[in-house]
Amino acid sequence: MNIREITKDVLYVGVNDRNTDRFEALWPLPNGVSYNSYIVKGSEKVALIDTVEIGTVRDYINAINLEIGTTSPDFLVINHMEPDHSGGIPVVLATYPEIKIVGNRQTISMVKGFYHISDEHFLEIKDGETLDLGGKTLKFFLTPMVHWPETMMTYVEDEGVLFSGDAFGTFGALNGGVVDSEMEIEWYWDEMYRYYSNIVGKYGRFVQKALEKTSGLDIKYLCSTHGPVWHDNISKVVGIYDRLSKYESEPGVTIIYGSMYGNTADVAEEIARQLAIRGVKNIKIHNASKSNLSYMISDAFRYEGIIVGGPTYSMHIFPPVEQFMIAMETREIKNKVIATFGSFTWASSSVGKLKEYVEKMKLEVVDSLDMKQSADESVYEAAARVAENVVASLKLK
Ligand code: FEO
Repeated sequence: MNIREITKDVLYVGVNDRNTDRFEALWPLPNGVSYNSYIVKGSEKVALIDTVEIGTVRDYINAINLEIGTTSPDFLVINHMEPDHSGGIPVVLATYPEIKIVGNRQTISMVKGFYHISDEHFLEIKDGETLDLGGKTLKFFLTPMVHWPETMMTYVEDEGVLFSGDAFGTFGALNGGVVDSEMEIEWYWDEMYRYYSNIVGKYGRFVQKALEKTSGLDIKYLCSTHGPVWHDNISKVVGIYDRLSKYESEPGVTIIYGSMYGNTADVAEEIARQLAIRGVKNIKIHNASKSNLSYMISDAFRYEGIIVGGPTYSMHIFPPVEQFMIAMETREIKNKVIATFGSFTWASSSVGKLKEYVEKMKLEVVDSLDMKQSADESVYEAAARVAENVVASLKLK
């Protein structure tokens, strides 16, 4: 049971999920995930902040009961309606029938749509409004599209605590500790990149607006809906979200390839070798048939160069490689140095179709190579040329 005082009057009552294989039925959870919820105690009123995914709601209600006994909380603030956080709403309402659900106009519309709850249970708030709990004041900041249109953040003015919804979240359950100052946190960083790029990645400009809106707040505890409560590492976490939402990269090149019988893999390996010869140390290589898409998306967001290739398959791009390109286009990836390579046996299509994807992203292919059947000296020379042109285009060395 993860009850933990963050401050004297702000408590963590979230839960770990180590059972679900795939978040959103898509993204693997090798390290689990936490659904974070909080209690804020004023001298007169008590508020819950968000709920949890329905499969973990029993532990959640137990945690609330242990903390506030038979007292009913007065308010349930809903910062975000995705069901990994809103799934517990009907159970909270059944347990505490007098509780008021606090949200903005779009939140309330979604609560009605998902859970069929009637009007008398809601308290609608607007951007910038406050709610007095007695010695504790909640202030609401609407932050649409981080990660859904109804999303908002809630700030406890008197405590310097910001409940930020999905923003600043990460995959990875909490292994005993709740606040970063009481745990080993190094392993969360990779999971934060993977979480951001896969879940929030499409909405960079809205993350930027949210960062701007909350930039003047004195934040001592940054309480996301997933992962550790940030205290010691607030500036690092905000920095990661700031850089990723501006599509800023780190030095390095991600190579994504598909290969049915090893011939296209041979080209990928040669390009990697030629990059290394030219001084690129940080090279991530993914066989798209084997690496999970979420890790490919994460590295592509993180590093400056992307070199992608695969064989022509029924006159299309090899399917796992095309899935990666769709993910890049969907997330409106920017500021990348991109090169492509492909192969064919009797008719070429892959390289041309990869170029179309890159153009749809409003990016340029700095170089490409196409190979018939298998590599010969001219293909290896072209691989060296691709590496040369990529390295020449990289700004981050
Ligand atoms: Fe963790 Fe967008 O839900």
